[in-house]
Amino acid sequence: MTDPASAADRRSRVLADGNEIPLLGLGVWQIPDGRECEDAVRWALAAGYRHIDTAQAYRNERSVGRALRDSGVPRDEVFLTTKFFPGHRDPEQEVQRSLERLGVDFVDLYIIHWPQGGPTWAWDGMQRAHERGYARSIGVSNFDVAELSSLFEVAEVPPVVDQVQFSPFEFRRGLLSACEQRDVAIEAYSPLGTGRHLGDRRVAGIADRLGRTPAQVLIRWALQRGLVVLPKSTHRERIESNAQVFDFALTDEDMAALDGLDRTGGTDRAQENAWW
Ligand code: A2P
Repeated sequence: MTDPASAADRRSRVLADGNEIPLLGLGVWQIPDGRECEDAVRWALAAGYRHIDTAQAYRNERSVGRALRDSGVPRDEVFLTTKFFPGHRDPEQEVQRSLERLGVDFVDLYIIHWPQGGPTWAWDGMQRAHERGYARSIGVSNFDVAELSSLFEVAEVPPVVDQVQFSPFEFRRGLLSACEQRDVAIEAYSPLGTGRHLGDRRVAGIADRLGRTPAQVLIRWALQRGLVVLPKSTHRERIESNAQVFDFALTDEDMAALDGLDRTGGTDRAQENAWW
């Protein structure tokens, strides 16, 4: 059996399609286009992040692209994700617009942002985006187990990730084990509960004892649970400290205590309140 602590000391994992994904990425949800987003991405790349996660709906792809170019980090060293906004009709056409805004020839990962209108209709366009080389890997976000199963029934190229809100407080065990069975990697968005989980006294207790920050504890928990993890910050020192998570390990006891914070009942659902 793989020791979860040492597994988390790897910085990347291989997806079902053979592509490699860095386990830690900067999420840029809710960072407005412009200086704030460019700074966040530039600081992240300077701090050693090699994975940036944006979306058409975030409206900040231009800033992500500009920061990537300005950083001097070679394109082929950075794993870049964007997401298809399912209010539009054609994922292939929309990814080309994303590439233009980002100023790149391809994204590493392109995912359906949420299953609006059903889980399967957009997949043909996603596969075309993949076939034409616009996206090296394709996947989904906010899909629950039933939606993933429907998609697997029709997919010629299966999705390799499902990006969902995931943290000890949203420990979706049912979804995680179904994804593990299908070799779909879970990517954890809002791993800090958009900041809300950082003030929890049980998280703070573990952090104090280890001389770490609550954010580092939550990010480390995700790594040790085998997830790709996408914390967001616009502050340089936080972006840097959130990446200092490969030099310590949570014990089995701490992991179990954090697991116990789950408020979803180990759900196989992707989110509690669909917004579409
Ligand atoms: P900010 O962007 O102002 O730094 P999540 O990743 O779950 O979406 O959480 C993001 C929220 O958590 C943001 O409000 C972010 O604030 C805050 N945050 C991120 N990292 C830290 C940190 N190390 N310490 C305190 N707050 C943080």
